Amino acid sequence: MSAKLIEGKKISDQIRAEIKDEVAKLKSSGIQPGLAVILVGEDPASQVYVRNKAKACEDLGFYSEVHRLSAETSQAELLELIGRLNAQDSVHGILVQLPLPKHIEEKAVIDAIAVEKDVDGFHPVSVGNMVIGDDALLPCTPAGVIELLKRTGNSPAGKHAVVIGRSNIVGKPVSLLLLREHATVTICHSRTPNLAEVSRQADIVVAAVGVPKLVKGDWIKPGAVVIDVGVNRLPDGKLCGDVDFAEASEVAGWITPVPGGVGPMTITMLMKNTLKAALGKAK
Ligand code: GUN
Repeated sequence: MSAKLIEGKKISDQIRAEIKDEVAKLKSSGIQPGLAVILVGEDPASQVYVRNKAKACEDLGFYSEVHRLSAETSQAELLELIGRLNAQDSVHGILVQLPLPKHIEEKAVIDAIAVEKDVDGFHPVSVGNMVIGDDALLPCTPAGVIELLKRTGNSPAGKHAVVIGRSNIVGKPVSLLLLREHATVTICHSRTPNLAEVSRQADIVVAAVGVPKLVKGDWIKPGAVVIDVGVNRLPDGKLCGDVDFAEASEVAGWITPVPGGVGPMTITMLMKNTLKAALGKAK
């Protein structure tokens, strides 16, 4: 392997230490950042995520509430809980774990969260503010990608970034954040012809499609930065990304591993958003 490893865990630990310092400072003004997490149903992966979020709150000195609701909870009951949390002063951030059961309309739920408590950055107003470059709570995984680039000295300014994937959670927002950081951005997706050829033009490749090992070594320009957002489970139970790590790491200049690259950044950026929401209250 010739590429340098982008150590998400280490960078995430650094940011958590910074957050901890800020929390200590806020305490003197009587404010403790607070996060409410809502989980509807028993999806095993979601249960793990929610547990990790509560643990992060505990580690960083945040107030936290976890609402575990049955899979039969009605949309009206969920909206009523969100309404209560919107009005609760001890809660600065609200996160509804996705996916939701089929009978609940995701959009109605996201729209119901107060914009100033939208620590996922999924509310249409948060998205709109991000697009026009106004102050906004930014979606966590995309914001984590930008932090990884900047904190390894790989500023996107003036670079050609190729994003593979156009989801609302990662592909689209990370493209806009890269643009905001002055990259020239190409967004690719399932209908893009000559994907490998486009990818080879990139100084920065961000893979977020959910296809195991899609991005091969010969898709990478020598020395490029490769950010792998994919988390795929292989038949043998092992995790792998959207990038063929063994191949790509022989060509790239920098690369994120899976696990241990982008993954650890997501919850850390959620904590950062909750702190920011609490600081908004402190103004
Ligand atoms: N499920 C998978 N990723 C996410 C995320 O970033 N936020 C929420 N709320 N649910 C998710």
